[in-house]
Amino acid sequence: MANATTSDVIAFIEAYAGVVAEHKRELTKLDSAIGDADHGENLDRGFKAALERMPGDDATPAEILKAVAMALVSKVGGAAGPLYGTAFLRAAAAIDGREELDTAGIVEALDAGLAGVISRGKTELEDKTMVDAWSPAVDAAKESLEGGAECSEGLASAAAAAEEGMKATIPLVARKGRASYLGERSAGHQDPGATSTYYLFQTLADMAGSDG
Ligand SMILES: Nc1ncnc2c1ncn2[C@@H]1O[C@H](COP(=O)(O)OP(=O)(O)O)[C@@H](O)[C@H]1O
Ligand SMILES: [Mg+2]
Repeated sequence: MANATTSDVIAFIEAYAGVVAEHKRELTKLDSAIGDADHGENLDRGFKAALERMPGDDATPAEILKAVAMALVSKVGGAAGPLYGTAFLRAAAAIDGREELDTAGIVEALDAGLAGVISRGKTELEDKTMVDAWSPAVDAAKESLEGGAECSEGLASAAAAAEEGMKATIPLVARKGRASYLGERSAGHQDPGATSTYYLFQTLADMAGSDG
C-alpha cells in the first residue's frame, strides 16, 4: 500500500463511523449485559460529531486525529469517550507534523493510542476492556512489520489478533469500568469496548486490503 495521506485518514474515520453506526445496537446490547447499555450510542454520537467537525484534506493526519479526539472527549460521557479520545490524541502526538504515514508510522500511532488508553484507564491486560483487543493487535502488527510484511498483511494480522483478544474477554471477570461492579457475574459476556476496538482494527485492515 502507498503511504497513508490525510485523505486516507479521513476515509478511515468515515469508514469507522459507518461501522460503528452499523453495529450500534450490537455494541449497546453487549453493554446492557455488563454495563449500562450505552456503548453503541456513545461511540455513534462521538463519531458523528467527529465527522461534523472534520478538517479538510489540507490538514495533516495528526490534525485529523486530534479533531476526532476533541469530538470524542466533548460529546461522549462515561468511560469510552475519554479513553478513545486519549487514544486518538496520543496517536496524533506520535505522528505530529508528518504529511503521510508509512506502515511504521501507522503502527506507531496505534501503539501510542494503546499507551494512552493504558495510562488514562490504569488498565492492565485481562481487566476485560478494550486493551484486551488493542494490545495483541499492536503486538501482531509490530511482529509482522519486523518480519518484513506488507502493510495490508500486518493490519490483517492485527485485526485477527484483536478479534481473538475480543473473544478472550468472554470468560474474564472485569476489573475496570462499570462491568467490574458485577464482579464474578461479569464473566460469560464479551466486553463491548473490546468489540468496538476489534471493529476499529478490522476497518483498518479492510481499507489496507482494498487498496492493495
Ligand atoms: N479503565 C479502563 N481501561 C480501558 N477500557 C475501559 C476502562 N473502563 C472501561 N473501559 C471500556 O469502556 C467500555 C464501556 O464503554 P461505555 O459503555 O461507552 O462507557 P461507560 O462504561 O461509562 O458506560 C468497556 O466495555 C471497556 O472496554
Ligand atoms: Mg456503558
